Amino acid sequence: MSVVGGVRRLTAPDIRARKGGAPVVGLTAYHAPGARLADEHCDFLLVGDSLGMVLYGYDTTVPVTLDMMIAHGAAVVRASRHALVVVDLPFGSYEEGPQAAFRAASRVMKETGCGAVKLEGGCHMAATVGYLVERGIPVMGHVGLTPQSINSFGSFRPRGRDDIESEAIAADGEAVVSAGAFALVVEAVPVRVAAALTRAMPVPTIGIGASVVCDGQILVAEDMLGLTPRVPKFVRRYAEVGAIASDAVARYARDVRNRAFPGVENTYAEPGFEAPEIDLPDDEPSAAAK
Ligand code: KIV
Repeated sequence: MSVVGGVRRLTAPDIRARKGGAPVVGLTAYHAPGARLADEHCDFLLVGDSLGMVLYGYDTTVPVTLDMMIAHGAAVVRASRHALVVVDLPFGSYEEGPQAAFRAASRVMKETGCGAVKLEGGCHMAATVGYLVERGIPVMGHVGLTPQSINSFGSFRPRGRDDIESEAIAADGEAVVSAGAFALVVEAVPVRVAAALTRAMPVPTIGIGASVVCDGQILVAEDMLGLTPRVPKFVRRYAEVGAIASDAVARYARDVRNRAFPGVENTYAEPGFEAPEIDLPDDEPSAAAK
C-alpha cells in the first residue's frame, strides 16, 4: 500500500471488498494529464490497451506492445495518488502460458508501480490468472467482448445474445474469478447476461456496455469527454471537449496570423528596448477571411 501526501492509494483488495457496496468508478487514463483529472473522482484508473486505437490511431488493440503499456502505465502512476492503477497486458504478452504472463506482468508491476494488471479471456486463461495471483500479482478479469480477439470475432458487435454465447460468458466469468481475479470487466453484453454474472460472482463486475446492473462501471475517458469521433451506444458524452479544443486552436491560429499573439504579457521585456512596430503586409489574410 502506498501513502502519498497523507492519501492512501486504493488497492485491489479494497476494490474486491466493494462487492455489494457503493458502485465502483473506473475510467481509462493513458497519460499524466488524464490521470491528474480523474484520480480524485475514481476508484481505479485503467491504463487500457484501447490507447492503441484512441491515442495511436490503430484500428484494433492488437499492435499494442508491452513497452507502450509500461510507458503509459508509469506516467499514470506518477500523476495519481488515490486511485488503484490497473494496467492492461497487451495482446501477445500473456497468452502463451502462465510463465510468459508472469514475466510480462512482473515487468509491468516493477516498471510502472501499478497495483494490478488486467487480462482478457475466460476458461482458457484461468490457469494463468491463478498462477499470477498466487505469485502476488492482482488480476482483473475481462469477459464478454474481448477486443484483443477481434480477428476471431470478426467485429466489435456485442456478445452473449444467444444461449451458446451467454453460457460461455457465464463459464468464463466463473473460471477467472474462481482462479482469483479480484474484479471482472464485463464488456458489451445484454442486461440478462450482466445480471446473471453480477448475481453469481463474489467480486465486483465492472460494466462497459453491460448496463447499470453491474457493481461498477468503466468508460474510455476520451469517449465520454467528446474526444473520439465514433460514440458507441453505451457511452454517455459528459462533455464536448473536442469542440472546445478545436475552437481554441482556431482562435490561436487566427491570433498568430493577425500577429495578435503573443501579446506584451506573453513577452520577456528588457528595459530600454522597444519592440519595433510590425506592419502587416497588405495581403495578410484577415481572421474574418478564414
Ligand atoms: O482497453 C480498455 O480500455 C479496456 C476497457 C474498454 C475496459 O479494456
